[in-house]
Amino acid sequence: MQKRKVAVLGATGMVGQIYVSMLAEHPWFDVVALAASERSVGKTYAEAAKWYRDTPIPERMRDVRLLPLDADVIAQTGASIVFSAVPSEAAFEIEKALSARGLRVVADTAVHRMEPQIPLIVPEVNHHHLEAIRNPDAGFIVSCANCSTVGLVMTLAGLQRRIGLEKVYVSTMQAVSGAGYSGVPSMAILDNVIPFIRNEEEKIARETLKILGSYQGEFKQADFTVLASCARVGVLDGHSEAVFAELSRDTDLEEVRAAIASLEPLPGLPSAPNPPVVLRDEPDRPQPRLDRMTGRGMATTVGRLRLDGRTLRYNLLSHNTIRGAAGNAILIAELLVSKGLA
Ligand SMILES: NC(=O)c1ccc[n+]([C@@H]2O[C@H](COP(=O)([O-])OP(=O)(O)OC[C@H]3O[C@@H](n4cnc5c(N)ncnc54)[C@H](OP(=O)(O)O)[C@@H]3O)[C@@H](O)[C@H]2O)c1
Repeated sequence: MQKRKVAVLGATGMVGQIYVSMLAEHPWFDVVALAASERSVGKTYAEAAKWYRDTPIPERMRDVRLLPLDADVIAQTGASIVFSAVPSEAAFEIEKALSARGLRVVADTAVHRMEPQIPLIVPEVNHHHLEAIRNPDAGFIVSCANCSTVGLVMTLAGLQRRIGLEKVYVSTMQAVSGAGYSGVPSMAILDNVIPFIRNEEEKIARETLKILGSYQGEFKQADFTVLASCARVGVLDGHSEAVFAELSRDTDLEEVRAAIASLEPLPGLPSAPNPPVVLRDEPDRPQPRLDRMTGRGMATTVGRLRLDGRTLRYNLLSHNTIRGAAGNAILIAELLVSKGLA
């Protein structure tokens, strides 16, 4: 297969650094453009990025010069797929402009997620929603879900399909990298828990219902209640969530386990984890430090399953910048290629 040329917008950021790491040796994609803010334009990647990962900057990315967020400049590089990981304020215009030029835009940004004609994709859960793109040449944006929604829907999908859901309550403990490089000052988060993340609770509720809803010419949201309570905690990477789910009928833990584990891997896609959901039986798992890199950061780990009547409780852990952002977007791009859409 001929490699597809790809660009990354916001390449120096928390999510951008995951793209740079995951795409450096990708078998299907060849990075031809990295873009960032005016602060970075013209600098080499190694000069501009405040690298925070514990693996070094990939050698072939170090000397790449950063481009501005300009649709003509990006299009001229020959990129056919663009990954967008810039702040929302910068995202709307550039994503629309690139899509209007026929480029395939896969966005981590929140700005288009709830638009009626734009699919919001967690590949193993709702790849069939890509049908919403009827005429790819008329504009092409696929959105990734919010980082705390991704792990949640990966664990709810099998429960919804096999048993049924009435209500889902979720309490999140979200890592600092989820707020971006300069998102949470160290003086605010060290020795602390901040029980508020702006707009996050609303995003989790509406995105979960869109992803687990149906698409038949238009999106119809799933028919259960989702309520979230979100907190920022002093963890670098990996969002933990405590989930309380009211199931639609009587069941037992064996069936619940089988339902959660029933999410199918996507065969043949290089970044697809197998299995996508990992169940752990130890009473003190999942934990961010121990479990965030499960499935190279692409799998969601579930533990502490407890059933009281029809109320199921469990904990999950999902890597926010890998599975919750760049990794999910790369998996979407692999899916697009495999379906002949990119
Ligand atoms: N962090 C997560 O876990 C996560 C998960 C899901 C989705 N997201 C979404 O992904 C996006 C990026 O998040 P992040 O955490 O990576 O943020 P970040 O660490 O703050 O990085 C932001 C990136 O965007 C660039 N940028 C900032 N302002 C810009 C502007 N006006 N024009 C062009 N480029 C600009 C920055 O370039 P400079 O380095 O030059 O400033 C940097 O490359 C956001 O939309 C966020 O909501 C994040």
